[in-house]
Amino acid sequence: MIAERKDDHVRFATEQHRRRSGHNQFDDVSFVHHALSGIDRSDVSLATRFGGIEWQVPLYINAMTGGSPKTGAINRDLAIAARETGVSIATGSVSPYFADESVADTFSVMRKENPDGFILANINANATVEMARRAVGLLRADALQIHVNAVQETVMPEGDRSFASWGPRIERIAAGVDVPVIVKEVGFGLSRETLLRLQEMGVRAADVAGSGGTNFARIENDRRDRPDYSYLDGWGQSTPACLLDAQGVGIPVLASGGIRHPLDAARALALGASAVGASGLFLRTVLDGGVAALVSLLSSWTDQLEALMTVLGASTPADLTRCDVLVHGDLRAFCADRGIG
Ligand code: FNR
Repeated sequence: MIAERKDDHVRFATEQHRRRSGHNQFDDVSFVHHALSGIDRSDVSLATRFGGIEWQVPLYINAMTGGSPKTGAINRDLAIAARETGVSIATGSVSPYFADESVADTFSVMRKENPDGFILANINANATVEMARRAVGLLRADALQIHVNAVQETVMPEGDRSFASWGPRIERIAAGVDVPVIVKEVGFGLSRETLLRLQEMGVRAADVAGSGGTNFARIENDRRDRPDYSYLDGWGQSTPACLLDAQGVGIPVLASGGIRHPLDAARALALGASAVGASGLFLRTVLDGGVAALVSLLSSWTDQLEALMTVLGASTPADLTRCDVLVHGDLRAFCADRGIG
């Protein structure tokens, strides 16, 4: 049953990705071009630091899958691509392993293929401290993601309906594991108010995982006999909206959800993200072209991000926050409604 759901998610997410319009709210963010701002490429470093974590590249393959033979093979390919390019990588939710330990290999294959890489384990917010420790142990994980996905659970026929305990559970896990805890959404975004609460809970960083890319309301609707919740398609805040909403909060933020190319990555970093992740696009790339295609895509993203930073005069990802950025259209209206200056 869980294995089938994991295969469904991969199938529907990939189909959705192939049908995507191409436009999202990152198009409402542009850099002011300053023709004399450029620096030397040799002065650019992609290294980033947040919440006690240090990565050489500010990119990561975000949480997706595991729990079935097919998704285990995908995890192996994703992990090899991460190893070859030095980007960090998250597993999909480890919850199938808690239900059936025989699927352990479909997750631990990531550590086997990527012994020295930075790996994030992923669990849901119902997990106990004991489960969180088991997930970290299974992957020998460097950090732990906890996903908060109330909208997805609601549309999922077999989904969770009790969310009140999530806050206290996250707080206990953050205090009870010895790796940094990062809380993430799954494509509906984290508001400023949520980020402030997470900060109080001792969470090390938050991945806003906003809308604009993979849409889990649509995926779960596709899995239903009737698409009862089709009106939820537009729910949530886009990734750039979340980043603008997060200005000045103390907790470091990561950006994922609808990242399409290196310019979106540069925009997200300029809006304050410490690193940028993607899921659906990387999944589609590995399924269509195998490991070689994903290695090639990730290497070219790294190269192009460095090139964009050179033009923009940013010698580090954090320097991008000093670039002049214009916000247009619906994103500008969002800022006005939220009182963001
Ligand atoms: C996901 N995502 C996800 N997130 C999570 O925290 N745990 C999970 O198990 C999964 N599973 C999953 C499966 C598949 C097939 C996809 C494509 C995605 C959500 C993911 O991490 C990310 O937040 C969203 O997909 C938004 O990013 P993109 O796809 O727009 O880059």
